[in-house]
Amino acid sequence: MPPKVFLTRTLPEPVMGRLREGFDLLCPSEDRALTKAEILAGVKDREALVSMLSDPIDAEVIAAAPALRIIANYAVGHNNVDLEAATARRIAVTNTPGVLTETTADLTWALILAVGRRLIEGDRLVREERWTGWTPTQLLGADIHGKTLGIIGMGRIGQAVARRAQGFGMRILYYSRTRLDVRVERELAAQFLTLHDLLAASDFVTVHTPLSPSTRHLLGTKEFARMKRTAFLINTSRGPVADEAALVEALESGQIAGAGLDVYENEPEVPERLRRLPQVVLLPHLGSASTETRIRMGEMALDNLRAFFEGRHPPNQVNRWE
Ligand code: GLV
Ligand code: GLV
Repeated sequence: MPPKVFLTRTLPEPVMGRLREGFDLLCPSEDRALTKAEILAGVKDREALVSMLSDPIDAEVIAAAPALRIIANYAVGHNNVDLEAATARRIAVTNTPGVLTETTADLTWALILAVGRRLIEGDRLVREERWTGWTPTQLLGADIHGKTLGIIGMGRIGQAVARRAQGFGMRILYYSRTRLDVRVERELAAQFLTLHDLLAASDFVTVHTPLSPSTRHLLGTKEFARMKRTAFLINTSRGPVADEAALVEALESGQIAGAGLDVYENEPEVPERLRRLPQVVLLPHLGSASTETRIRMGEMALDNLRAFFEGRHPPNQVNRWE
């Protein structure tokens, strides 16, 4: 009997085909975010769950699935899964690290360039037929080359962002829970600083930490007050790493110059006050959204399921028990 899998959202086609071949697959035909009740009903008799970062897989969902043995989260971040509740039941939890590193770094750079050079405002001007011709002072933005980039969280994605910054001739600062090996620091030409020193010195501050109790609201009123008034905040990690209300205040009061955001505190809600600000570029959580990467993430989730049901250790398991 093929293992019973519940997949909450439709994945790119080659992955769907492979899931249907190898498993007894339950997947809603309508591709939309499921309600809690629908998730509870879906997992009921399932041995495996393939969840999205937008699905809250809390203790209640886990309790509703007595046969559940593995949760393959289709994301590198796994803050949406109650790891403690899963581990207590000896349910393996896996993620998709590595494959989305470069794609997310690319998107981070898209945001750096878009806020610095006011791409979205320019596009709007042209589309709305308000452009009257070249002007010496129209939509003047900030240079990116030669500026200082502050990276908060120097894991795989932070390092991929740093490598790209070298091409722009930027000075690279970073703050991370663990300091990099000196050799890696030298390769990336990145200088380790305290968070507060990094905030004060950077022209662009970009966040790449996972969301955990210790990084929730890592950036708030006090931190934004440390930043230069000409500086920009970029966030492609998780919304709650920055206190969104404090960020709106910092933007409205001109405490910081602008922001490029891919993530929000209560997705898909984006505060109206944020949507009103022209100096902010807002994306709908597209960090890993390239065709190639979304397929690779699916293959990785599949590899984890296959390994588990063949009695091997899933290669990307994030929890452990004795
Ligand atoms: C995307 O946000 C991910 O964690 O994969
Ligand atoms: C993600 O892959 C990270 O560790 O930064």
